[in-house]
Amino acid sequence: MAVVSTSLTGTGSQLSGQFSGLRKSFLNLDNSNSTHSFFQNVDSHLRLSSSRKGCRGVVTMAGSGKFFVGGNWKCNGTKDSISKLVSDLNSASLESDVDVVVAPPFVYLDQVKNTLTEQIEIAAQNCWTGKGGAFTGEISVEQLKDLGCKWVILGHSERRHILGENNEFIGKKATYALSQNLGVIACIGELLEEREAGKTFDICFQQMKAFADAVPSWDDIVIAYEPVWAIGTGKVATPEQAQEVHVAVRDWLSKNVTAEVASKTRIIYGGSVSGGNCAELAKKEDIDGFLVGGASLKGPEFATIINSVTTKKVAA
Ligand code: PGA
Repeated sequence: MAVVSTSLTGTGSQLSGQFSGLRKSFLNLDNSNSTHSFFQNVDSHLRLSSSRKGCRGVVTMAGSGKFFVGGNWKCNGTKDSISKLVSDLNSASLESDVDVVVAPPFVYLDQVKNTLTEQIEIAAQNCWTGKGGAFTGEISVEQLKDLGCKWVILGHSERRHILGENNEFIGKKATYALSQNLGVIACIGELLEEREAGKTFDICFQQMKAFADAVPSWDDIVIAYEPVWAIGTGKVATPEQAQEVHVAVRDWLSKNVTAEVASKTRIIYGGSVSGGNCAELAKKEDIDGFLVGGASLKGPEFATIINSVTTKKVAA
């Protein structure tokens, strides 16, 4: 059972296990009198009704969706290095009950789609807000689908904070992508200063609301919780830090969308996930998979992360 800390013990840029600082007034949000009642509420609405059945005795998933692992290759690679990565992935032994996607740079999508095992789907790292046309430098959803893409990553922190994309713009992209049956990996997450100011939940819930306001249905959405301070920094969130946000996001979905959506929507963690830390993270019941940056550029390590689904299972 995760414990939400309401304390504001984080100082400076320390990101230790005891630092939480999620929200100063967290308890008020929920009209609960205590964290205990918050989790009783979560327990009764989600956990008891969402155990996953018929899949080799899965014991640690609060949600009912299949484990999902995405590799975000960002702006990395050349024809040669990508061909080597594809060949490493093709020869890796991957657990079958995991949805795996990789997001190569646009210019290599076709190469990867044509050479990668069908066990792994292709995602784009971005898309335009509507149908293609006179939009210099943009890539349309129709073009992505033409190449065989099944997913697009939207709301990634690098697009929010380096390229200046806001919730509204991201929401438009999500609306259009979903309307064309392209799945959306919807990223949310707080900056370090927001965490230190106790605003983690506020930020994540605002970003969730923007997606919720924009999308017609949650059937093809995976939520990626990626604390910005953990992305590309080597400072992974502790399993407890990740779990406490994941359970809060699931509860937000239950209260603001439906309990069914809360149960079936995969909430995956991203931010310095590696072959070394994935197993401990995967054990947390509300962590339904990962979005992986740096470590997804190494085939064997990415395979280890995919196969961390086994830590969610017991022997049949
Ligand atoms: P990282 O990136 O694994 O390199 O931290 C994660 C992401 O940006 O999705």
